[in-house]
Amino acid sequence: MEEKPHNTATSPAHIDRRLSVAPMMDWTDRHCRYFHRLLSPDALLFTEMVTAEAILHAGAARFCRHDEAEHPLALQLGGSDPDRLALAVEAVAPYQFDEINLNVGCPSDRVQSGRFGACLMAEPQLVADCMTKMRAASDIPMTVKCRIGIDDMDEEQGLDDFIDAVADAGVTIIYLHARKAWLSGLSPKENRDIPPLNYERAFRLKQRRPDLEIYLNGGIVTTASAVSEMARFDGVMIGRAAYKSPYILSEIGEAAFGRAPVSRLDVMRQMADYAAAQIADGEKMHSITRHMLGLYNGYHGARAWRRVLGEELRGETNAMKLYDAAAAIESLLAKHQSDTELKQASPAQPAQKVAS
Ligand SMILES: Cc1cc2nc3c(=O)[nH]c(=O)nc-3n(C[C@H](O)[C@H](O)[C@H](O)COP(=O)(O)O)c2cc1C
Repeated sequence: MEEKPHNTATSPAHIDRRLSVAPMMDWTDRHCRYFHRLLSPDALLFTEMVTAEAILHAGAARFCRHDEAEHPLALQLGGSDPDRLALAVEAVAPYQFDEINLNVGCPSDRVQSGRFGACLMAEPQLVADCMTKMRAASDIPMTVKCRIGIDDMDEEQGLDDFIDAVADAGVTIIYLHARKAWLSGLSPKENRDIPPLNYERAFRLKQRRPDLEIYLNGGIVTTASAVSEMARFDGVMIGRAAYKSPYILSEIGEAAFGRAPVSRLDVMRQMADYAAAQIADGEKMHSITRHMLGLYNGYHGARAWRRVLGEELRGETNAMKLYDAAAAIESLLAKHQSDTELKQASPAQPAQKVAS
């Protein structure tokens, strides 16, 4: 018998997708998403990919648990059997995701052998059939995440044909990782870096199909590029940069949406409360803190923070230590800032050495 759904929030009528955090296996679990939500009230968050078969065999409860605060939240599914995908969509309905996304971009071997992920770009009609069945199974938006092509597929005609087929099935929202996937010879990790990015190809698609919402993904690592690509696409999806340097979510919030900067200390106060509740529920501190190692990346104190989380707090059960650790880093940072200001005011003074 399935556990009762944890989440009973009602879905927002409209989802703002100008900023989203990409689905990332082993990374964007529920703890990570809770943390990202504190850094960005605006971003649409994605789960890790779950296969339709996993849901149908092991039950939705195991994969769908999340906190109400994570909304808006999209579930990413993997699969290529239209009926099985539709059943999976029905099975997850009680969890009230705001969107369901089909993975047509993941190049891993495991995924290819099950005939889903990026290899489906070669089968536009099958993807269209999947989307038709998924749409018939639920009223929430059904979206696709894909590449601009695979292997020797023609990046122009091939992508246009794929998108047109999917659009004919009623899909209007596409997340486009703007590089090909090379299905033989490259590891999944290499496939995220080696095939060249081609934003212009992605933009030509947006120009040709202005009726579709096209969200640019791949290689966006600065606030400036996120903001500038938001101007010509419907929005941007950020993966590794959001995970490795999560404070970029607050910085984009400031630059793109006029938000006040999020206080890292406030975030850590809330994460300490969250961790306390999770630890009481049997969770390990490290399962939560592993997602927060990059919080100070690019700022003074980054290395000290990683060390405290990775070593000192690893087996800790008192979650409040998390807040204390952040407070210590914040005072390091404040001291560094005032030293820097002093130095700038009187440049002749000897520089004070501070570890970062
Ligand atoms: C660790 C990791 C796991 C990923 N898992 C998935 C996944 O489950 N589904 C998916 O569509 N893409 C997955 N991706 C790809 C990302 O969603 C994204 O498309 C890719 O990293 C490019 O965006 P970025 O350059 O902003 O990171 C994964 C990426 C990473 C780094």
